[in-house]
Amino acid sequence: SVVLPCSVDELLSVESLEVEWRRTDSETLVHLYQDGESRAESQQQDYQDRAHFFTDQIQHGNFSLRLDNLRAEDKGEYTCRVYSQQESGETVVQIKDVERLLVSSSDRSISASVGEDITLNCSVDSHIPPGDLEVSWKKTDKNKNILVLVFQNNETLSDLSDKQYRDRVELFPAEIPKGNFSLRLKSVRTEDKGVYMCQVFAGGLSANATAVLEQLGFSVLHIMMLILCISASGSALLLCCLIYCRSSTKGTNIKGKYSDLFFSFDVNKIFSTLMFSFSTIF
Ligand SMILES: *[C@@H]1O[C@H](CO)[C@@H](O)[C@H](O)[C@H]1NC(C)=O
Ligand SMILES: *[C@@H]1O[C@H](CO)[C@@H](O)[C@H](O)[C@H]1NC(C)=O
Ligand SMILES: *[C@@H]1O[C@H](CO)[C@@H](O)[C@H](O)[C@H]1NC(C)=O
Repeated sequence: SVVLPCSVDELLSVESLEVEWRRTDSETLVHLYQDGESRAESQQQDYQDRAHFFTDQIQHGNFSLRLDNLRAEDKGEYTCRVYSQQESGETVVQIKDVERLLVSSSDRSISASVGEDITLNCSVDSHIPPGDLEVSWKKTDKNKNILVLVFQNNETLSDLSDKQYRDRVELFPAEIPKGNFSLRLKSVRTEDKGVYMCQVFAGGLSANATAVLEQLGFSVLHIMMLILCISASGSALLLCCLIYCRSSTKGTNIKGKYSDLFFSFDVNKIFSTLMFSFSTIF
């Protein structure tokens, strides 16, 4: 918010007093005080919620206007015109620059699989050019913050990254001029899970946003490997079982002459399945 000052030295009669705030360039009506009240209906839509006139200050000859929720477009000249019964006068106020530093990330937390590459979002909207910003990505832990990546003087300072992240993180150089400081984190590990903060400093201002890496699952490949391992161990176990059964059958000779044939056929089949499983894994 900013207060645009406008006041008179000698007290004016409140009767038939009119105060008009306009943008000098476009003559857009920012605020109008007439017939003892603020005339919201004649004011430009955009300013209805943002322009605040201090009605209680009028009796002190103070016609200042507070403009809330400033935007870059608010930069410019504003004229305050005061009409009273006897005379009128005006003053011009200029908003030279609207400083802003807004940092945002995506609201959704990220889920990924171990070994995957992921992108943590961070967008900066500022009056300061992206090359002059200082951006640091940190992983916020209970006890300490771990430095993930630092961007300063228009370059990434990889040496400052914690060793667990060095060589695994980077920004998108083509996106930086747009204020996009999203982070690429390559081959994620289970311990990467947590809250990441994108902190931006510029011209004495600072702002930040967080991105959450929530869940780390196993990829389809991992699951397939796991299933194969289990089936391979199962097959091995079965093979042992069969060999054991076969030798005991032989010893007692209960099953008759076809059992041998049956078992040797099956053992061969299982053995080849086992070999297939192993060759697939490796
Ligand atoms: C006018 O009123 C505003 C809001 O209360 C205050 O910030 C400003 O200092 C006042 N100006 C004068 C000249 O009294
Ligand atoms: C920042 O670096 C990029 C590429 O490294 C370059 O294109 C750009 O001009 C630089 N900007 C400033 C302000 O130095
Ligand atoms: C920033 O760049 C990344 C990588 O190209 C992209 O995925 C993301 O959508 C961009 N964010 C914005 C807000 O443009």
